[in-house]
Amino acid sequence: MPVTAVVGGHWGDEGKGKVINLLARDADLVIRGHGGANAGHTVVNEQGRFAVHLVPAGIFNPRALCIIGPGVAVHPGLLVQELDELGAREIDVSGLRVSTAAHLVMPYHQMLDRAEDDAREERRLGTTGRGIGPTYVDKSRRVGLRVGDLLDARSFREKLQFVLDRKAHELAAVGVRRPEAHQVADEYLTYAERLLPYIAETQPMVDEAVARGRQVVLEGAHATLLDLDHGTYPYVTSSSCTVAGLLHGSGVGPRRLTRGIGVYKAYCSRVGEGPFPTELDNELGERIRTVGHEYGTTTGRPRRCGWFDAIAGRHSSRVNAFDGIALTRLDLLTGFAELQVCVAYEVEGQRLEYFPSQVETLERCRPVYETFAGWDEPLGGARGWHDLPANAQAYVRRLEVLLEAPVQLIGVGEAREEIVQL
Ligand code: GDP
Ligand code: IMO
Ligand code: MG
Repeated sequence: MPVTAVVGGHWGDEGKGKVINLLARDADLVIRGHGGANAGHTVVNEQGRFAVHLVPAGIFNPRALCIIGPGVAVHPGLLVQELDELGAREIDVSGLRVSTAAHLVMPYHQMLDRAEDDAREERRLGTTGRGIGPTYVDKSRRVGLRVGDLLDARSFREKLQFVLDRKAHELAAVGVRRPEAHQVADEYLTYAERLLPYIAETQPMVDEAVARGRQVVLEGAHATLLDLDHGTYPYVTSSSCTVAGLLHGSGVGPRRLTRGIGVYKAYCSRVGEGPFPTELDNELGERIRTVGHEYGTTTGRPRRCGWFDAIAGRHSSRVNAFDGIALTRLDLLTGFAELQVCVAYEVEGQRLEYFPSQVETLERCRPVYETFAGWDEPLGGARGWHDLPANAQAYVRRLEVLLEAPVQLIGVGEAREEIVQL
């Protein structure tokens, strides 16, 4: 399976980190292709429990080259911090490379992110405040600074001055104080010294790995329903979170893809604002949050929890043409007498079997549920299909029909080996 892409099927935090860590054991190359430190991917392995934000989750395989690709928005200060944290825990990070083409998240992007979201008042998005949206805006406006710009100090200072002059009005409009170019440049050039061993022209490395048929894992972040085009706009992130977007941001041509894996939780969660038809804003939702420790890996915010939404999930499965599904956190559904899965929406007496593109419609959707009998057996020790109780098997089988793709991995615990491979 030379090139495998792993992306989120719902609204993020599905357990991509765990799946990528598992696949990365045999990988030669792991690439993050989009987004930035708004992602938080948890990895639990023999070395401990880690949350990575910018560094690819493949870093725990010391033989793998790990690339932060051209499509990623990199805050160099956060990257240095992450490398320090990994280094302090004796993780070998020498295999990391950061593309010169990746855009830099600047301090004014973070300030703009917070100020703009506050200014939206009741329409606020609940962003992670990591400056991701404003970084991609500047990239599209062609006033972005890139990782490669850090390599020439004089030219970096000039470019930064030019950009800050262009942005003066915008910053003033939302009450953000314009930073001094020389101060920002001093700070960023200090990061550059630390990051120098990692900054590289990464495309030749990617091209060579792909041409030689090496094992490549593309690490998606966020999820399809947070995608700019296919998600719940405007309650989305600012990158393309699909398999196609991931290939593009990684520099891997679409014909090279061998397999696309969609990661879904056995129920749904969402952080931040935006429609979520199966949300359980009640004791049941609270129970899932408590049992599942559903608090954000990046911001610590409580995650909203609800039943599995197969209409939303199938939309993702179709947009990405998933070859297989990794279903995580099935173990957390132990102990529920009944489970519900949304198999259609109802809007003003009409049944919908597709995921509407307008959030106004989605907000009016009431889920139509199919009910499943639960199970009481803990699943943590399950390693094969036959270790799962019959009711859990029935639940999984129904999800694969609804998602139109076979379930290939089932997560039954946080640790890497707590998995059923089909
Ligand atoms: P990501 O952003 O998609 O990588 O997911 P996060 O790391 O933000 O959140 C997923 C959480 O679920 C993390 O705490 C994982 O350790 C945990 N997790 C992943 N798979 C499983 C599983 O199968 N069972 C349990 N109990 N936890 C899991
Ligand atoms: P991983 O990779 C969950 C959400 C934010 C917010 C919206 C926009 O860990 O699954 P942004 O800061 O990106 O502009 O915020 O997107 N969001 C995520 N939610 N998991 C993520 O990443 C997310 N990345 C962004 O909560 O609602
Ligand atoms: Mg996460």
